[in-house]
Amino acid sequence: MTTVDRVVGAGIDRIDGPAKVRGTAPYAYEQDPGEPIAHLALVQSTVNRGRITRLDPTVAEALPGVLAVLTPANAPRLSEELASDLPVLQSLDVHYQGQVVAAVVAETSEIAAAAVGEVLVEYAAQPPDVHLAVDRPDLYAPPNVMGGAATDSEIGDVEGALAAAAVVHDAVYETPTQHHNPIEMHTSMARWNGDTLTLWDADQGPHTIVDDLVTGFGLDSGDQVRVVSPYVGGAFGSKAFTHPNQMLAALAARAVGRTVVLELSRQQMFSLVGHRTPTIQRIRLGADPEGRLSAISHEVVEHTARISEFAEQTATGTRVMYAAPHRRTTHRLARLDVPPPTIMRAPGETPGMYALESAMDELAHTLGIDPVELRIRNEPERDPERDVPWSSRSLVGCLRTGAERFGWAGRDPRPGVRTDGRWLVGTGVAAATYPARRRRADCRITVHGGAAPVRHLVEIDGSDIGTGAWTALSQIAADALHTDLASVELRIGDSALPFAGGAGGSMGTASWGSAIELTARELHRRLDALGGQLPPDGLTVEGGVPGPSDAAETHSMHTFGAHFVEVRVDADTGEVRVPRATSVYAAGTIVNAKTARSQFLGGFCMGLSMALHEESVQDEHFGHYANHDLAEYHVATNADIGEIDIAWLEEDDPLVNELGIKGIGEIGIVGAAAAIANGYWHATGKRIRDLPLTPDKFF
Ligand code: MOS
Repeated sequence: MTTVDRVVGAGIDRIDGPAKVRGTAPYAYEQDPGEPIAHLALVQSTVNRGRITRLDPTVAEALPGVLAVLTPANAPRLSEELASDLPVLQSLDVHYQGQVVAAVVAETSEIAAAAVGEVLVEYAAQPPDVHLAVDRPDLYAPPNVMGGAATDSEIGDVEGALAAAAVVHDAVYETPTQHHNPIEMHTSMARWNGDTLTLWDADQGPHTIVDDLVTGFGLDSGDQVRVVSPYVGGAFGSKAFTHPNQMLAALAARAVGRTVVLELSRQQMFSLVGHRTPTIQRIRLGADPEGRLSAISHEVVEHTARISEFAEQTATGTRVMYAAPHRRTTHRLARLDVPPPTIMRAPGETPGMYALESAMDELAHTLGIDPVELRIRNEPERDPERDVPWSSRSLVGCLRTGAERFGWAGRDPRPGVRTDGRWLVGTGVAAATYPARRRRADCRITVHGGAAPVRHLVEIDGSDIGTGAWTALSQIAADALHTDLASVELRIGDSALPFAGGAGGSMGTASWGSAIELTARELHRRLDALGGQLPPDGLTVEGGVPGPSDAAETHSMHTFGAHFVEVRVDADTGEVRVPRATSVYAAGTIVNAKTARSQFLGGFCMGLSMALHEESVQDEHFGHYANHDLAEYHVATNADIGEIDIAWLEEDDPLVNELGIKGIGEIGIVGAAAAIANGYWHATGKRIRDLPLTPDKFF
């Protein structure tokens, strides 16, 4: 065994970078199936709720180059076990606007698109019900919320504690529907060979997609489906689960006996691949004059679709943030005529912590206590709801370090008193948290024998959705195998590789990295048993992790962070600018300093985008998302981003997993919008409690 410098922690350039820059990294649309590809285009419902009364494909079918028009009358049957929006083209019922009601397969994408306009569809429609409100009589409590968490939590006597509190803050915060908008459109290319299917796909985890295809097509085993996704151009949760695009590509390929590709348009992504639910959140805080919280109540109202239940765990961040003896969190849902909502970057924590961290800022002002100090005074020694110790918790360190780097000391707490020309100037702070989790992942490592330089082949169905996983996992493997990066060959993004859950919940690197580490340890044991002699044919070892670390039962495991921002508001136009920010995180082991910084930075920018721009506006009469493209649905661009200072604390947490990795993909967005809204109030004296902070709300 030679001694090689450890590479975990180093800011290694992306190993997939050159191929991406040169355009040689094949994304789903660019895969070569070895035969001419047919193209799929979609006919979508123009009503939210109703039934198709007439569907006539004859004109479209007669167009030269059209191979088939699939409708509920002729599409291959899918299993009735499929739920939500996956049984595409199986029924004449319409449950949301944008639902696929027919699909054209043609020799070219242009012919397919032209034929879509020739498919005649008529509906018997009912008026859409899309309005979320706290006084809807049909609000209900789901059995649990995302991740299997309890729908409600109740500790002590919240109402009694609020009635007795010296100071009470009680306010309602609202966040709008948001759409993920990754750069790469959702794309699926399907080819059947008898009863086996290959799907080149843009997703967050090939194994996740396989299961729904096996169920949908009534196949005997997962071996009959191979999903291949080596490169993915962003996802943010919209590619975590199977959506109609994968089912449609496979259906069409089966129907015409050809390879078929479907690339959704940007507009189609607003109805077919999920969105973040809007929320209405009431926060009540009770405190003594020194700012010690006696009660925290966080009540959430959100929506789900008529055909599926997705209950975002909006208030779960509140369950771990601050000490208070009396506490309550609740989630209530309304079933509306909307497409199925889904997870979107830090689902739950993102809207939930916007509300909680805005409320903490308001309480700090009422009490005359610095908002950083108020948070530190309510730091819990143990998880305040589970009553177990933290595996590690460095929120206070993040707040103190961030305050120092940002220059928070000496801040004038009065709102609306600083100007710089036309600009009203303020600063804001907010805290962040996200769970540190791990799930099952298998791994296979092969050391090649022979005279060639020793090479290690590491195989695992991990996913790189633009995060840097190709690089980070190679670093972990190099250290685990006591070798250098150049001697590691990594294979990910293919369901033919050993099982792994997808990139999601900030647990990819922790799960896949643990699997690689443990498989490498097994390899070393086997080599030791062989007296350190590699057999001439080489050696292959399989291993992995079965699920969460044992300490998940006995400890509370979370990342933490703190954002500090300067906010400027134009007194004449209401334009909002964030010229500088500092974000400090504590997330255990940082595997790659460069890609990690990009994750934190990207998360913060998405939070800024949420604060200033992002809002999907649903027309309450017609029911569609009116701003369903990037011209109308605004996301932050370079011009919105100022100086962002990213830092992280050293944190050694051996309890979360063998490598001490807590996960970093989502924490960056959490709390960022609250920090900006708090800075906006400090600049202007105006407290806006519904995002985004668009200029019209200033006046
Ligand atoms: Mo992330 S929303 O868990 O893909």
